[in-house]
Amino acid sequence: MSASREEWGTSAGFVLATIGSAVGIGNIWRFSYVAGENGGGAFLMIYLLSVALVGLPIIVGEMAIGRAGGGDAVAAFSRGARQRSPWRYAGWLAVVGCMLILSFYGVIAGWALKYFVGSMTGTLWEHAGGGGFGGYFKKFIANHGEPLGWQLAMMALTMFVVAGGVRKGIEAVNRILMPLLAVCVVALAVYSATLPGAAAGWRFLFVPDWSALLHSRVLVAAVGQAFFSLGVGMAIFITYASYLGPQTRIPRSAIAIAAGDTLFAIVAGLAIFPAVFAFGMDPKAGPELAFITLPQIFISMPGGWLVGPVFFALLVAAALTSMVSLLEVPVAAIVHRTRLSRRTAVAVIGTAIFVVGIPSALSFGLLGDMRIFGRGVLDAIDQAVSNYLLPIGGILVCVYAGWHLPKAEALASSGLGSGRTGLIWLWLVRVLAPLTILVILRDTIGAV
Ligand code: TRP
Repeated sequence: MSASREEWGTSAGFVLATIGSAVGIGNIWRFSYVAGENGGGAFLMIYLLSVALVGLPIIVGEMAIGRAGGGDAVAAFSRGARQRSPWRYAGWLAVVGCMLILSFYGVIAGWALKYFVGSMTGTLWEHAGGGGFGGYFKKFIANHGEPLGWQLAMMALTMFVVAGGVRKGIEAVNRILMPLLAVCVVALAVYSATLPGAAAGWRFLFVPDWSALLHSRVLVAAVGQAFFSLGVGMAIFITYASYLGPQTRIPRSAIAIAAGDTLFAIVAGLAIFPAVFAFGMDPKAGPELAFITLPQIFISMPGGWLVGPVFFALLVAAALTSMVSLLEVPVAAIVHRTRLSRRTAVAVIGTAIFVVGIPSALSFGLLGDMRIFGRGVLDAIDQAVSNYLLPIGGILVCVYAGWHLPKAEALASSGLGSGRTGLIWLWLVRVLAPLTILVILRDTIGAV
C-alpha cells in the first residue's frame, strides 16, 4: 500500500520509461504505413499540430492526475474519501483498455520477434523467391500455432520485466534499451539517406500537399495516430507519474516525451521511406510495409544482412518497452486493491491478456473468416481502440483535470503554476483538446 509504494530512481529514469512507453510499434510500423496511406507530408503537418495542441496537454493532465492521486489509475481518478465516485470507472476503463491493447499488440510484437530471429539466422532470406516475402508472411500469420508461440514469448519477456518492479524492472530495462534504440534508428536513417534516389523519400515525408487538408480522413488518421503513438488516454502517464518523487518537473518531462516520441517517428520514417522510394516500392502498402516491403528491400540492398536484423531488433525492443507500460497499468491497479503480490498479479494478468489475445493471433488463419464489423479480429480491436477507446479516455482526462479538479489544484499538481503557461494549458485541456476529440469522434462514428 502507499507506505511501500515504489518510486523511480531518478527523473531521467522516469522520462526514459515514459518515452519507452510512447515509442513503440506505433512509431515504426503504424506511423510509416499511416503516413504512407495519407499522403506523407500533409499527414505529418497535421500530426505535429495534434501532438502539440491535443497530445501534449493531455500528457500534462494525466501526470497531474497521477501525481495528485498518488495511486494507481482507479485510485487516482477517485481520490479522496468518496470511494464510490463514478470517476473510478474512468480508471477501470483504462485498466481494461490497456489489457485489450496489449492483447493484440503482443501479436504484432511476436511477428517482429520472429522476423528478428529469422533475419539473424538467415532463414528469412531464403524466402525471397517463389511467392516472395508476401507469400511467406501470409503463410506465417495464417499458421495455427506459430504466431501464438511468438506472442507468448513476447508476453513472457514483458511479464519478466514488470515482475521486477518499477525501479529494478521497468526503469532498468528502459535505461538500457532506449539509448540503444536511438542510436540504431539514427544509424538506419543515415544509411537510408545514402541510397541513390533517397531524396524522393525525404520529399514524400516533408513536402506538404495542402489539398489533403480538405480530407477529413487525413485529420482523423493524424489525431488517431498521435493518440496511439503518444499512448495517451489509457492512464499510463497517471500510473507512471504516481511513482514520482516531488522533485521531478512535469511540464519539462511532458515536452521531452512528446518531442522524443515525434522525433523518433520521423527518424524512423527517414529510415523507411527513402529506402522504399530508392527501390521503387509502394509507400502505400499499408500494414504490410514492415513485413513484406522492407524484407524485399533488405535483401536487395548492400549490407541488408545487417540492416535487416538491426531494424527488426529495433521493432522488438520498442515493442517491449511499450508492452511493459501497458501491463503496468492493470498490475498497479490490482496490487493496490488486493492482497496479491506484484509477481502473482503479473502472472494472473499477463496470462489473462495472452488468452484474450489468442483470437487476434489466429485472426489471419483459423479464425480468418470471423468478422467484427466487417474486419478481422485483430484489425477490429485495433480500430476500436484507436478510434473510440483512446479518444474517450482522452476526453475523460480533459474533463477530470480541466473541470473536475479545482483549478488551483490542477495548476499546482501539473507544476505549471498560475502564470500564462498554466492558463494556456488549462484552456487547451478544458476546451480545445476535448472539442477536437469530439469532432473526430463524430466523424468516425459518421464513417461507420
Ligand atoms: N505508444 C505505443 C506505440 O506507439 C503503444 C502504447 C503504449 C499505447 N502505451 C499505450 C497505445 C497506451 C495506446 C495507449 O507503439
